[in-house]
Amino acid sequence: MDDLRDKYISAISSASDEAVLEDLRVQAVGKKGEVSLKMRELGKMTPEERQVAGPALNALKDEINSALAAKKVALADAALNERLKTEWLDVSLPARERRVGTIHPVSQVSEEVTAIFADMGFAVAEGPQIESDWYNFDALNIPGHHPARAEMDTFYTHRKDGDNRPPHVLRTHTSPVQIRSMEAQGAPIRVICPGRVYRADYDQTHTPMFHQVEGLAIDTDISMANLKWVLEEFCRAFFEVDGVELRFRASHFPFTEPSAEVDIRCSWEGGTLKLGEGDDWLEILGSGMVHPKVLEAGGIDPAKYQGFAFGMGIDRIAMLKYGIPDLRAFFDSDLRWLRHYGFPALDQPSLQGGLSR
Ligand code: DAH
Repeated sequence: MDDLRDKYISAISSASDEAVLEDLRVQAVGKKGEVSLKMRELGKMTPEERQVAGPALNALKDEINSALAAKKVALADAALNERLKTEWLDVSLPARERRVGTIHPVSQVSEEVTAIFADMGFAVAEGPQIESDWYNFDALNIPGHHPARAEMDTFYTHRKDGDNRPPHVLRTHTSPVQIRSMEAQGAPIRVICPGRVYRADYDQTHTPMFHQVEGLAIDTDISMANLKWVLEEFCRAFFEVDGVELRFRASHFPFTEPSAEVDIRCSWEGGTLKLGEGDDWLEILGSGMVHPKVLEAGGIDPAKYQGFAFGMGIDRIAMLKYGIPDLRAFFDSDLRWLRHYGFPALDQPSLQGGLSR
């Protein structure tokens, strides 16, 4: 019996897998196993012999069975550990770069602009695309006879004559959001207003729908110097080229006084546009100190507050930054164009993580 014990206990402890273990079980305690055969011999023994051998055989059988069970658990644990070694997954790894659609340059640039101005303390404000005549023109100091109304190639939602409803327009710029923001928040205020605008115009650099971003900062101590710093800071961050140079050119807008248009230094050498070098200047935005009448229209006291405003073409700065030649292609929904000029969907522009990659 001791021989049997030694034989099986050591064989079980060195069994390499479950199949070997099962063989050992059959050989030892299976129906025709060695221990079982020994038990059958109990019948031929004298009662005295049986009284000694019976419990001893049962104990041996139990011992072998529990050794088998323990080994089975140990083998399963080892197999699991082995599997885990090959099947591990690092959930902290960055996502795999696989394109899931693309982000349109207009969306990308809007996000980039928002990230930069958010860093300077500007909130995002919105207004309706179908706008009243008053918000789009009058409140911005553009009266009915003003040539700017005609210049803007306005889309009207219905004719003025024939009914008494006040005329509505598809907003021709994002400037009406200045008035809405002043009304809603009062002063001081710091907002940008990105969005769609509409004008009846169509060629390589004009589409009937395009995008602008308006900026507005009002407080008790705002000057042209603040405007200049903010715009320079923005351009340096946005265009991501060293030595971006801006030129402030005196201009006229009904809603600002004084007004300035801003150009960026560039070169067209070899037909490709390069920013920050060369002898050419490209206009990128209009700006100025908010006209007192505009502050009044927004319910803000011009004796106490003053501020600056600017309006910039989003599509235009997208074309400049990413070298996209034709504005019309922006709105063709051509998948080949989108794949070429689009951006990975999972890259959120941020100042920390980088605006564009
Ligand atoms: N609204 C003007 C346009 O669409 C752009 C503009 C110029 C906006 C000067 C401003 C500004 O806020 O101060 O052409």
